[in-house]
Amino acid sequence: MAFAQTMFPRSRSARYIAAACTAIFVVSTLYYLELPGPQHTGGFGLDEHLPHWSAPIPTGYPQDETSPLVWETRAAQVKDAFRHAYRGYLQHANGFDELRPLSKVGVNNFNGWNVTMYDSLDTMLLMGLWDEFEAALPVVAQGDFRLLRSTPNANAWSRSGYAPFFETVIRYLGGLLSAYALSGEKLLLDRASELATLLEPAFNTTKGLPRFGVNPGTGAVTPSQSGILAEIASCQLEWTYAAHATANKTHYDRVNTLINTLADAMEERKGGMFPTNWHLSAGKPVSESRSVGAAADSAHEYLLKQYLLTGKQDIENLEMYMLTTNEVLTRLLYLSPNRELLYVSDTTGSKFTAAHRLEHLACFFPGLLALGAHTVDLNAAFAALDPTKLSAEARRQYTLLSQYDLRALHMAAAEGLATSCWLMYADQPSGLGPEVADMAHTVRDGSSKDTKGILWMDAVEGWRNKGRTGPLPGTDEKKPIPYTLSEKERTPQAPWDYVVRRADYFLRPETIESIYIMWRTTGNPVWRERGWGIFQALEREAKTPTGYASLKKVTQSPAPQSDDQPSYFLAETLKYLYLLFSNEDLVPLDKWVFNTEAHPLPVFTWSEWEKHKFGISN
Ligand SMILES: *[C@@H]1O[C@H](CO)[C@@H](O)[C@H](O)[C@H]1NC(C)=O
Ligand SMILES: *[C@@H]1O[C@H](CO)[C@@H](O)[C@H](O)[C@H]1NC(C)=O
Ligand SMILES: *[C@@H]1O[C@H](CO)[C@@H](O)[C@H](O)[C@H]1NC(C)=O
Repeated sequence: MAFAQTMFPRSRSARYIAAACTAIFVVSTLYYLELPGPQHTGGFGLDEHLPHWSAPIPTGYPQDETSPLVWETRAAQVKDAFRHAYRGYLQHANGFDELRPLSKVGVNNFNGWNVTMYDSLDTMLLMGLWDEFEAALPVVAQGDFRLLRSTPNANAWSRSGYAPFFETVIRYLGGLLSAYALSGEKLLLDRASELATLLEPAFNTTKGLPRFGVNPGTGAVTPSQSGILAEIASCQLEWTYAAHATANKTHYDRVNTLINTLADAMEERKGGMFPTNWHLSAGKPVSESRSVGAAADSAHEYLLKQYLLTGKQDIENLEMYMLTTNEVLTRLLYLSPNRELLYVSDTTGSKFTAAHRLEHLACFFPGLLALGAHTVDLNAAFAALDPTKLSAEARRQYTLLSQYDLRALHMAAAEGLATSCWLMYADQPSGLGPEVADMAHTVRDGSSKDTKGILWMDAVEGWRNKGRTGPLPGTDEKKPIPYTLSEKERTPQAPWDYVVRRADYFLRPETIESIYIMWRTTGNPVWRERGWGIFQALEREAKTPTGYASLKKVTQSPAPQSDDQPSYFLAETLKYLYLLFSNEDLVPLDKWVFNTEAHPLPVFTWSEWEKHKFGISN
């Protein structure tokens, strides 16, 4: 956001542009033929000094054997699914946040402001559900954001008298802003602006990191000084677009302060990922645990997406994204020993020990990598990093990665991870994926037992040293294996190479989101067919007479259901499925950026007037 201020020397931005131009010029013709998909629009590059390898991704994908007409029918089926879920909500939970699809009552888990309705507005617009949208507008017009309404069956924090900042921003504010951008209905922007103002007190901390919760009626905030990375660093997109759409400098200042705090922390740490736990007033991490799943996920996502939303002017966020992914690629990606499933692990404790656990929540990450590789000149961005400013560990990561065409490497990781996330679904009798799987990682070599697992980059290095023949480790074609282990089996076993640790499926979107981005960025029709398989499983296992229910055990079919229809099922899961099957590219990835609740916001560049008014230097 602070364009002139980066954690590295000022001359960087000039270097960056020069490197980018050279790189695009040198390699674009050379590489174009080797890169996947008809939708690739160029823009990637490669520093001429770096050794590189050609992408191990096939040059041509099979023809889509399913006709466009069939895809149209499938998209229409998703639209029917949305109507079914929304109708059930209105019929049995009108005036409440979410539907309990089995007991057919409502529950207020998110302020009691009808979250399912607000979260669904832009999906209605994309699906052309004009009647539903029109009927929602008068409710949105009259809703009182000062009043929190809980229900006895709600979760504990929604009965605490505070609106949770993060959830309120990504669902309500993101939903309103996106529906405004898609419809032009001024009412939606006015309500968004009003809501943003009511949430403002959350930012009243020394370094501008938001508090967990705000009471929008009184302005009181939760006292805790502890912050979770995902919750303190996932509001930049919403606040930036609000600043742009309403020309409000206060909104701009909030996000600018927040980004500067993150950039300062990154500068002090000299590279790597941000840990998951923070102290708000100090503006610094207080733990060393890393994750791309729970507690962290969208914070990593917003580094790249903030750069994209503001028309790629803001290189500070791009730098943080590069340093983050450098660490994820070299330290958190592992291969399972038999099936060679690529997975991203959390760490436990302070020593960067991998937990060897794949969370459903982390399955957005392949989509993020693919989005970055598709839209950003990663090799130029990498070349613009200054290794002398990095910690020894971050420099080690940098040196290791500098042997590779980073764009191809990110894309390969995306391919392998998305395949593992999909297999977690395709292996299950229900066809839907578990919340958490423990991954096989014990490697026995003779007498001694090595439990450290196989780092993906070690395998990739082996592949490179052996002349780069065959597919890159973890990216070869894999087939589902019908899953039979019980949750009580302690040890992940071959042939699956994992054991389901938490068998619930909460109607979550992350895997479908990544499948959608893989389809858009590679053009490989296999992703669409995989998504179709998942939609059929949803219809079979999760559909109820009044909506869709979460599942308790994906390892059975029919899977036992639980009494939950989260609003993100309508905002995200069904939206990404609809976009996946639509023949038309309704939300081009170079023109829109999805917030972490799948609400698309339009890419823009600051006008000269905005730069003057907000004090943006460039
Ligand atoms: C939620 O819906 C109820 C019933 O339509 C309405 O009375 C209330 O004002 C709505 N609240 C918000 C914040 O939209
Ligand atoms: C801009 O935002 C601030 C903080 O949210 C708010 O107090 C102020 O009224 C807004 N200004 C305008 C002109 O809407
Ligand atoms: C911000 O916090 C300070 C110290 O906690 C307090 O004195 C002040 O009133 C707060 N300001 C607002 C606008 O809430």
